[in-house]
Amino acid sequence: MVDEETYKASTYAPVNIAVIKYWGKRDTKLNLPTNSSLSVTLSQDDLRTHTTASCSSTVEKDSLTLNGKDQDVSGARTQACLRELRRLRKDVEEKDGSAPKLSELKLKIVSENNFPTAAGLASSAAGFAALVRAIADLYQLPATPTELSRIARQGSGSACRSLFGGYVAWQQGDKEDGSDSLAYEVAPASHWPEMRAVILVASAEKKDVSSTAGMQQTVATSALFKHRAENVVPGRMKAMEAAIHDRDFAAFAQLTTRDSNNFHACCADTDPPIFYMNDTSRAAVRMCEAINAAAGNVVCAYTFDAGPNAVVYYLAEHEKEVAGTFKALLGEKTGWEGKRGGAVEAVKKLPEGMEVAA
Ligand code: ADP
Ligand code: DP6
Ligand code: CO
Repeated sequence: MVDEETYKASTYAPVNIAVIKYWGKRDTKLNLPTNSSLSVTLSQDDLRTHTTASCSSTVEKDSLTLNGKDQDVSGARTQACLRELRRLRKDVEEKDGSAPKLSELKLKIVSENNFPTAAGLASSAAGFAALVRAIADLYQLPATPTELSRIARQGSGSACRSLFGGYVAWQQGDKEDGSDSLAYEVAPASHWPEMRAVILVASAEKKDVSSTAGMQQTVATSALFKHRAENVVPGRMKAMEAAIHDRDFAAFAQLTTRDSNNFHACCADTDPPIFYMNDTSRAAVRMCEAINAAAGNVVCAYTFDAGPNAVVYYLAEHEKEVAGTFKALLGEKTGWEGKRGGAVEAVKKLPEGMEVAA
């Protein structure tokens, strides 16, 4: 008999905001993408998910609550994560006959997002990264962040990148079983520690079209998307890795804004068209252009995920021109909340002496 109090683990996971976007699946079951992508992991001091996983013989069914509300765990994607983690726990139990049979117990998962859910601020990324990490810790799995990224990817594609800090790529891979569709660290946060992000919340409302549904519709109907996946993204991935390697902000910024615009153009080319950006989002684009023009230099780069909220990257030395301008002009305006992301950094401060992920 297993003591229910004994088996419990908690973890924090940060969001990551892509600068080369993932949009499109080549395999919906395994959640394999049509193109590689690259993101920056934001400080978990700001936007983060906190998840606790526990198990005991008194828990009757697997459950997940998110911000106090019961969620459906029967979906194929959550089930895939649970199945894979239990299988790895079984390996541990088979190797060590004295290890408690946690793989046979039901799981209780309790999660909190401290930022808007399903609003284009990567809640599914932080959410599934935290879920996988918390259960892996509960099960004391000897799994590497790379192995966990393969599992988190099956919960939500973008989640695989939140297992690492700093600058992270998700290679699309070409194997049918998805075993090479993994995230890896392009550079640690310490490589370019001056990077900052300001997050402008244009709307905290749940989006009309989820990322999963939106990208499926794009794959099915957009010719522009096909061009993006085949001809645009591969070159940009290489150029973005080089820009990060060289700490070339102008190149980083141009690739980031162009890729965001290309992704939203593919959304507009979808039938029926999908509009994630709104008038406020477009005002943020114009403001970034004005800030760059006034500086006579590229000092900020905007990007929008599948939602209206802007993430603006800049370097610490341009704090005043960028974050200062946004705060001064928009801080008071209804519908805007200025929030400055701290330095982009590696996953750290995991509670209860857990191992760091990067
Ligand atoms: P977002 O732009 O916020 O990533 P998505 O449409 O990709 O929006 O995904 C939102 C969904 O992700 C939510 O409806 C929920 O199912 C899931 N999700 C968000 N946060 C969590 C969490 N902390 N734990 C588990 N699942 C989560
Ligand atoms: C625009 O990872 O949320 O944020 O795999 O269906 O859960 P699912 O989709 P999700 O899509 C993210 C799309 C994006 C770009 C990105 O994060 O790369
Ligand atoms: Co998402």
